[in-house]
Formats: sequence, C-alpha cells, structure tokens
Amino acid sequence: MDLSFNLCPLHPSGLRLNNPVLVASGTFGYGTEFAELVDIKQIGAIVCKGTTLEPRPGNHQPRLYETAGGLLNSIGLQNIGVEAVIREKAPIWADWPVPVIVNIAGETVEEYGKLAQRLDSVRGVSALEVNISCPNVQRGGQEFGSDPRQAAEVTRVVKTSTSLPVIVKLTPNVSDIVSIARAVAQAGAEALTLVNTLRGMAIDVERYRPVLGGITGGLSGPALKPVALAMVYAVYREVKIPLIGCGGIYSVSDALEFFLAGAQAVQIGSATFINPATATKVAGDLEQWMKKRGIARLADVVGAAHHRT
Ligand SMILES: Cc1cc2nc3c(=O)[nH]c(=O)nc-3n(C[C@H](O)[C@H](O)[C@H](O)COP(=O)(O)O)c2cc1C
Repeated sequence: MDLSFNLCPLHPSGLRLNNPVLVASGTFGYGTEFAELVDIKQIGAIVCKGTTLEPRPGNHQPRLYETAGGLLNSIGLQNIGVEAVIREKAPIWADWPVPVIVNIAGETVEEYGKLAQRLDSVRGVSALEVNISCPNVQRGGQEFGSDPRQAAEVTRVVKTSTSLPVIVKLTPNVSDIVSIARAVAQAGAEALTLVNTLRGMAIDVERYRPVLGGITGGLSGPALKPVALAMVYAVYREVKIPLIGCGGIYSVSDALEFFLAGAQAVQIGSATFINPATATKVAGDLEQWMKKRGIARLADVVGAAHHRT
C-alpha cells in the first residue's frame, strides 16, 4: 500500500513523505542518535531538535518529571546551534531516504529570519518547522505564538527568508487557537503543527520547591491528547492548509483520532521515550488498519469525524 503524499502542496517544490507518521522535535535528537535503533526510512519525516542561532546549554536540572498521564519537561532548548547543525548534521541527512525538517526557535523576529536564511539551500534540510512557543524578549517575554499579529510576523519573516517549505508549530497555551492558525496561514505558512506542550508544573512537598529547574515546564503525553485533538478539530473547520497533529500519540488508534479530526499527518513525541520504534510501529499499523478496512487512501479518513456532526 502506498501511503506517500505531499505534505506541502501549496509550496512550489512540495514536501513528499513516504508516510504520514513523523517524529516530533526534541524527542528524536538529530535522528543520528536513533539511526542504529530504528529503521528510519519507515518514518514519514524527522523533525530535529529545536535549533537556535547560538548553541544553548539549556535549563538547570532537573529537566524531566513524570506526572500522572504525562511528562513535564523544561529542557530550555538545549542545542548545538545552527552552524553545527549545518556543518555536522546536514551532510549526514543529505544521504538519508527520509526528509529532515529543522525546527527553529528565536528570541526576536530577526533571529527567526536569520535562522531561516542560514538554513536556506542547505543540502539535507527539506523544510523548516517554526517553533513559536518561545518568549519574545522584545515584548516582555510574551510567547510569539500567543498573539496572532506576532505569530503572523514571524511567519512572514521566515517565509521571505527561505525557499524551503515552512511549517509553523502552534502553542496550545492560548484561548483562541483558530485566530492564531488563521493569521499564520494568511502569512504564508504551508502547513501547521498542532501542538507544542501545555505549560505546567509540579511542586516537591518535602522541599517546598518547584520540582523542575526551569520552575514551569511543558506537559506532553497522554494528558495532552484531548487538548491537541480539540485544537486540530477546531482549526480544520476554519483553516484550509494541511495540519499535523501532535500530542499524546502512542498507538495507531491515537493517530487515527487525529486523522479523523482533520490532520493529514501526525508526530510522535514522548512515546519515543518508551519505545524508540513507536513511529515506525504506528506507520506499519496504519497500513494494516487501512488494508483491513479496504481503505485505499488516507485522504478518505482525514476529517471524517466532521461529517457526522
Ligand atoms: C523532552 C522534550 C523536548 C522537546 N523539545 C522541543 C523543541 O525543541 N522544539 C519544539 O518545537 N518542541 C519540542 N518538544 C515538544 C514536542 O515536539 C511535542 O510537541 C510535544 O511533546 C507533544 O507531543 P507528545 O505528547 O507526543 O510528546 C519537546 C518535547 C519534549 C518531551
């Protein structure tokens, strides 16, 4: 069965994937760490660790804490910086049979533009995923992704700085996800990833202190799934660019919920920490599920949950 499709049909060169199951940024390193463990050609695309202009050491430890139904992280965008990505990682990716999407993060609009420019035409980089869940230091630390105007401005600057397909990854820490999605789509994004982690925290009752070094962190895993799903469902009705669902996907059944809500692709994040082969397993199980049901094209499933309301 052929599950390959073009994730970014609005882009002149498109973004062809072998299947619609991707791995999420920050949970699969640069892919290289997993290449021995997992058959990477069975993954739709690899989204690499969030990349900034300069290398970042990240937040104080502890950075990971397991909660009921999820995982809190405050990694703080630890990464090797864009120059090392171009020098050390991209040449490896260029020989891979799977596209690598570079996730970028900035503290100012200009930083996003510089990152996009620097990664443009780098062999091995197939697309950009713009993480707008970052604090804008010029606007008192408000997240870019929490305001439609700022979210659109970042999108526009990235679009004018690169010829690569641009996917924008939205934060769930907003009251009206549809207004953000609409603004980003109008600013030229070719696809949206929904969603990043939900802000949360845990407190150590013995020490009377927040558990995480970063005080608050991002909640991922099963607890995030219903939130992410409701956002995909709402955005699908109003915004007509491809959606990538992300949040608490551990099985093909989880993935199918996102497809039915309107996602054309999904990303696997925290589940990779339990089993590094989750994405390849979900992709294989999806194919089996479609065969069993006699479904020839995933497009027949995408958004189908809307037809019955
Ligand atoms: C340890 C960790 C690191 C992450 N780092 C990034 C990152 O650098 N950039 C980004 O956009 N999202 C990052 N995320 C968010 C994930 O890509 C994903 O959106 C989120 O975890 C929800 O999916 P999940 O429930 O399947 O984990 C990170 C998540 C985790 C758990």
